[in-house]
Amino acid sequence: MSVPNHVAIIMDGNGRWAAQRGWPRIKGHKEGARTVEDILEAAADAGIRHLSLYAFSTENWKRPSLEVGALMALLRMNLRMFIPKLRARGIRFHHVGAVEGLPTGVLKDLRALEAATADLDRMTFHLAVNYGSRLELATAARRCVEDGLAPEAIDEAALAARLWTADVPDVDLLIRTSGELRISNFLLWQAAYAEFYLTETLWPDFKGPRLREALDAYAQRERRFGGL
Ligand code: FPP
Repeated sequence: MSVPNHVAIIMDGNGRWAAQRGWPRIKGHKEGARTVEDILEAAADAGIRHLSLYAFSTENWKRPSLEVGALMALLRMNLRMFIPKLRARGIRFHHVGAVEGLPTGVLKDLRALEAATADLDRMTFHLAVNYGSRLELATAARRCVEDGLAPEAIDEAALAARLWTADVPDVDLLIRTSGELRISNFLLWQAAYAEFYLTETLWPDFKGPRLREALDAYAQRERRFGGL
């Protein structure tokens, strides 16, 4: 059975999961954070080498400030708790996203977790925080100019090397939970040939067994990369 090398997930449906229970949205995010932990373990056990999770987009700042504040606090708490947990599981951490605009405390915790897990290589966990694919591509184009590249030297490899995901292999399987059928500005370049797996399951309910279903579905796909 073929295991995808790089799985990316748009974690969606925390708010609806909480609303279904008559609870505040943040309770959905808290259960969503528990799912993150479960999926990290299930992904590493399945032999996945790269797992990318979309936690907070460049557009999510438009949410009510109370929710943004609560999400940032939850994120920081989890980043700190991840230090021993990721170390115990051999998982390396990597932040993907813009540094500009991130609260200093969040940036400090992201960098601390990266430093604490830099020597691990069972799986890399890429967390997209303050991430937007269009901003990433525009930034890469600007870096080409800053690096003094001649127009004819600006090719796919030159751009790819200047993305926040430089050195990360392309996405093989892109999962979105909660029944939405959108890519929402996530890894547009990296997922050019990704297989899609869309499920009605809300993120807080997307635990290990649901990931294994997605991996089974992926194993049935025939990938052609534009060829025959
Ligand atoms: C989407 O659900 C989820 C988010 C915007 C936030 C994701 C955050 C977490 C899973 C928790 C913290 C992360 C880590 C890494 C511990 P939504 O709020 O858009 O749900 P809705 O569409 O049902 O309203």
